[in-house]
Amino acid sequence: MTKIFDFKNIIDESALSLIANDIRNGGLVIFPTETVYGIGANAYNKNAVDNIFVAKGRANDNPLIVHVSDFDMLNNFVEGYNDIEKSLMDAFMPGPFTLILRKKNIIPDNVTCGLDTVGIRMPNNIIAHKLIELSGVPIAAPSANISGRPSGTNINDIKNEFDGKVDYIIDGGMSDIGLESTVVKVIDGIPTILRPGRVTENDILSIVGKVKVHDAVLHGIKKNEKIESPGMKYKHYAPNAKSLLIYSNSKDEVLSLINQNIVNNTCVLGPSEFENIINSKYYLSYGNYNDLKSISHNIFSLLRSADALNPDLIIIVGVEEKELGLAIMNRLIRSVGYNYIKK
Ligand code: TXA
Ligand code: MG
Repeated sequence: MTKIFDFKNIIDESALSLIANDIRNGGLVIFPTETVYGIGANAYNKNAVDNIFVAKGRANDNPLIVHVSDFDMLNNFVEGYNDIEKSLMDAFMPGPFTLILRKKNIIPDNVTCGLDTVGIRMPNNIIAHKLIELSGVPIAAPSANISGRPSGTNINDIKNEFDGKVDYIIDGGMSDIGLESTVVKVIDGIPTILRPGRVTENDILSIVGKVKVHDAVLHGIKKNEKIESPGMKYKHYAPNAKSLLIYSNSKDEVLSLINQNIVNNTCVLGPSEFENIINSKYYLSYGNYNDLKSISHNIFSLLRSADALNPDLIIIVGVEEKELGLAIMNRLIRSVGYNYIKK
């Protein structure tokens, strides 16, 4: 039986202690973070970690991120870090940022799927922070969604997917950011973005003076290419309906592309500015065209809403691939399975 706790307005500290105790002893808990919800287990408990993979239906070669409440906790299970890694940690932790570091053996192999590195993250969310701190152990947690589906950004979207599969669900309201953390690995001395997020290329550049975005971020994995981050190769964020992503920096071009592709039962997901211009059966607005924060906040939940309308086609209006727009487009390109028209 899954028990749901509502901590949206007040955190019940004694209930949270109970949940933390359960995590330490091998339970599974869905909890809020500032990026998306996570489905967490004690990172030192191999069986509990196995249960995460089962609950999500996750491939067993896609490693998990380990969440900590402070740097002392982190030092127990990573081998150390160089100056660049240290600067990144000081600048972006706590926050929507994951750094890949070498791990100690205390982290079971199933957390990292056999890799000798581990992704670490210190969430900037009071419930997540307290949960990790009270449990006294690092928490391994992927995004809370059945594998392949959009990540969960609120409890309503995911409670049916996980009912009976986890011990507790903590409702902390709608995730603030709505897209998963920026994943970075320092490769040959250069911070390399493996998955873009709210911490952007420019943010990293301003701290360490160099940065690279991995090619796979927008173009997928090429044949025979070395896979830095296994998550890159999987279909993700995908609605069940057929979907098409459209982008141009000309508003007229976007409107004409939508009109060329629209069918009878189409749901368009786009900016509020187009809502009264487009003649589709359904229109879901993700907010103002230039408000990337609002788009990132809403997009996963809207992909689910679009799907629930059961349309024959979902047309999504994309944004420019820069700053937070790079993270948004990385998710959207994959959600449409690379069915993308850019003019
Ligand atoms: O915001 C987030 O990061 C959320 C919240 C819950 O913290 N978590 C999340 O986890 O998005 P998940 O499992 O959905 O995505 C983890 C990503 C995957 O793409 C995985 O391949 C990559 O991080 N990753 C994890 N460990 C890695 C490692 N050792 N080396 C390279 N990539 C790694
Ligand atoms: Mg995920």
